[in-house]
Amino acid sequence: DLGSIPGETLRLDIDEAGIECSARLLRSGGLVAFPTETVYGLGADASDAEAVARIYAAKERPSFNPLIAHLPGLDAARREGVFDGLALRLAEAFWPGPLTLVVPAASGGTVSDLARAGLPSVALRVPANPVALSLLEKVGRPVAAPSANRSGRVSPTRAEHVLADLDGRIAAILNGGSTPVGLESTVVACLDGRARLLRPGGVTREAVEAILGFALDAGHESAEAPIGPGLLASHYAPRAAVRLDASRVEPHEAVLLFGPVDPPGAEAATARLNLSAAGDLREAAAALFSSLRRLDEVGTGTIAVAPIPRTGLGEAINDRLRRAAAPR
Ligand code: TXA
Ligand code: MG
Repeated sequence: DLGSIPGETLRLDIDEAGIECSARLLRSGGLVAFPTETVYGLGADASDAEAVARIYAAKERPSFNPLIAHLPGLDAARREGVFDGLALRLAEAFWPGPLTLVVPAASGGTVSDLARAGLPSVALRVPANPVALSLLEKVGRPVAAPSANRSGRVSPTRAEHVLADLDGRIAAILNGGSTPVGLESTVVACLDGRARLLRPGGVTREAVEAILGFALDAGHESAEAPIGPGLLASHYAPRAAVRLDASRVEPHEAVLLFGPVDPPGAEAATARLNLSAAGDLREAAAALFSSLRRLDEVGTGTIAVAPIPRTGLGEAINDRLRRAAAPR
């Protein structure tokens, strides 16, 4: 019975046998962590409410928030959601890739009410990772997958991060190394003929707007969705306190740097990591969550974070850092 705590978490390689085994576990209601291009997902059969409920138990997530259903392609996605012209253009431009589209749920769709948190809409994504795509093909059903971390912890970009949070609580993990994007997908709602940014992420606002030909509306006006996990104040929290836009570093602090010029005091910090010495936002995004975990392991009281530009991927990086810094 996969409903009870599995006890031992299988470590699976990303070969044919590992993917086959993962698909079988998912189809029988088990939880399997798998790599995507953004972060590791904690997968469950999205059409099976009991399996979806196990996600919340494993993550110790207190409330039922809507989850993203992952699919192997646009055709499968169109069986679950209704795509207007805007949604179709975005899907064709960015899938497979780090973009999630919230669209009206299709009448014949199979994503359970629980995975949609009872909403009339559904969040759909086709990930750009060959292992994930092959797994989704084999499962043949939409797979609900939030980030594979305990609720309130930093999202996992390596299999070790997943095991640190969920070992013994999930049936299996597919070990696919580190995830290249490092930040969750961008969430755009295409409802009522409008396009709204609900969460900045791996596809930049600028790239989405270039395809649309107009500016995205702000997501906070959203009335039809409850505040999702991605919108909770302290969602991506290390144990240490986080101090943003640090123009100098205090001697007792650890520091997360960006770019070639360090703020004064950085040389005396208890620990130092640079997200990208070259000042490259893509490199910084990929390193963000694992750097927060590593500085946290030092056991420092406070992590000071140097200023990071807010354009391009910097919008999502600053969004995650603000949540890490929010009071808990
Ligand atoms: O990169 C990612 O998106 C990762 C990987 C594993 O794919 N997944 C992920 O899922 O971050 P999750 O469940 O942590 O994020 C779901 C986001 C939340 O911000 C949630 O509020 C929003 O999608 N969402 C889901 N369904 C929605 C709906 N029907 N209406 C509005 N927002 C929705
Ligand atoms: Mg998450």
